[in-house]
Amino acid sequence: MFLRKKIFSLGIFITATMLMLAACGNNNSQTSGTATTDSKGSSEEAKTFKLAHITPTDHLWHRAAEKFGEELKTRSDGKMSLEIYPSSQLGTEADMVQQIESGSIDFGFITAAYLSSRAPDFAAWFMPYGFKSLEDAYAAGDSDVGKKILASAEGTGLKGLGYLLGGQRVMIFKDKEAMSPDDMKGLKLRVTPSPPMQDFYKSAGVSPEGLPLPDVYAALQTGVIDGMDMDLDATITNKFYEVAKYVAVTNHMVWPSVILTNDKKFNSLSAEEQTIVNDSLQAAIDWASTTRTAEEEQFRAELEKNGMKVYEISPDKFEKQINEFDNKYKEQSPLIKEFIETFRK
Ligand code: BEZ
Repeated sequence: MFLRKKIFSLGIFITATMLMLAACGNNNSQTSGTATTDSKGSSEEAKTFKLAHITPTDHLWHRAAEKFGEELKTRSDGKMSLEIYPSSQLGTEADMVQQIESGSIDFGFITAAYLSSRAPDFAAWFMPYGFKSLEDAYAAGDSDVGKKILASAEGTGLKGLGYLLGGQRVMIFKDKEAMSPDDMKGLKLRVTPSPPMQDFYKSAGVSPEGLPLPDVYAALQTGVIDGMDMDLDATITNKFYEVAKYVAVTNHMVWPSVILTNDKKFNSLSAEEQTIVNDSLQAAIDWASTTRTAEEEQFRAELEKNGMKVYEISPDKFEKQINEFDNKYKEQSPLIKEFIETFRK
């Protein structure tokens, strides 16, 4: 059994390494082709961009990446196309950011949670119970303060092109219907290793475990953790309903990814190409917002159908945690303070 596991792990390692080498092999990853003339008479070289992200292919973010690829193709008269590397095929988020910095991949959907460890102003997005609805959070991405926070990712060759939001965060418990922070005391919950998220859970008495997404299923199955912070989408796409019984639809935090590109490579595109990329991304972001909002009820029903108890916890139960968060993080930077004061419902 141990040997089989080792061989399996080795297989995964070799596959991931080969994919990373393939992606890194061509440091200027935009594949150049023959110059063509489009219906408007302008001549540009064909380009194939590479985009990487961490979610499985049935997750909203992958579907948004596909939409981005379709839009690029249509808007460029077939001259631009997109290769997508899902499911952490090119490594961890840290690996992906490094590959964007070096220019070996063109775009990444990188969680704001990960970025909050490198660019602390992204912590603002994780104010607990900060938005009335997903729509309010989409609007925050387009706001002045949202854009200023986006710009804080820059400076190491990165450029932020926008936010792509997933569903809001919920709490999953393996075998306890926790109804309040009192019930959560002492539980080991998987929480993304992002300082603001971990602070929120610590303040609720939880022992947060900073496991990466691909390790969560096994950790829950084997009892290494008692539950997790997650979104409904990933609960379904990762089949967490097979190993946990309870999902509290708290919607206590939003879950943005940041669309990152390489600053120099983006600036080397013509003005017309940059417009096509930006417009295609905006179309994908708009598609994802509408799609995700419409899917909420369907996701709850799907989890119930798969045997989970789906329930709610009143936000009032987390009043202490909300106040502690705001007091601590408003002190940390003027941008975080502005974000919280602008959007806190
Ligand atoms: C997570 O690590 O919890 C996660 C990452 C991407 C999409 C959804 C969830």
